Amino acid sequence: MMIEEAKKLAAWTAVNNHVQTNQILGIGSGSTIVHAVHRLAERVKQENLSIICIPTSFQARQLILQNGLTLSDLDRHPELDVAIDGADEVDLDLNLIKGGGGCLLQEKIVAGYAKCFIVIADYRKKSKSFGEQWKKGIPIEVVPMAYVPVTRALVKRFGGAVELRMAVNKAGPVVTDNGNFLLDWKFDNVHKWNEVNMAIKMIPGVVETGLFINMAERVYFGMEDGSISVLDKPVH
Ligand code: A5P
Repeated sequence: MMIEEAKKLAAWTAVNNHVQTNQILGIGSGSTIVHAVHRLAERVKQENLSIICIPTSFQARQLILQNGLTLSDLDRHPELDVAIDGADEVDLDLNLIKGGGGCLLQEKIVAGYAKCFIVIADYRKKSKSFGEQWKKGIPIEVVPMAYVPVTRALVKRFGGAVELRMAVNKAGPVVTDNGNFLLDWKFDNVHKWNEVNMAIKMIPGVVETGLFINMAERVYFGMEDGSISVLDKPVH
């Protein structure tokens, strides 16, 4: 099965199973969410659903508008029913690495205020533990003036290597939707991700990490054989 078909299968299944009328819906970022928004627009039209969409990025905002959906924000709708988003890697505990597309800050805010956070991904994102599939490291959004000391603090405390993410087709670094820089931390061993996440957030200059720990309720993976694999949050 082609990767794009696997993304579409996951996205359609999530929208079919979790969207109903009168919901406030968080719209994630990346390439998989595009399929979800297409299916959402189709359902809104066919079933005359009343749905209000909260974007997680400039890209998501454009998607909502281009597909004729209703755009709002957290000022007017501070609590969401469902947020749907992609991921770069998902481990067996349903922890996520996100931010490969650079949109992790608004993604985490929107998911954090949703009653239910649903993730959609293709089979390449499914891992036993972080780093098995995703080799680009953990994205960390930082205030530009602090990227050097944050880099040094990360390496000193946790080891590995840190790179400032550079733009393509523009000289210099990637600048996020929030005017910040991105560091990609290539860790070299397995960590207790919840503790690491909290420790990184305490480093002055760090805005947010791409570690989404204990946030996702359910993940839909579109598999290579055309099936859907569903993982639910473990009950501890
Ligand atoms: C955006 O910064 C990311 O968190 C995306 O949600 C993630 O990278 C998944 O993107 P794809 O759906 O393109 O794989």
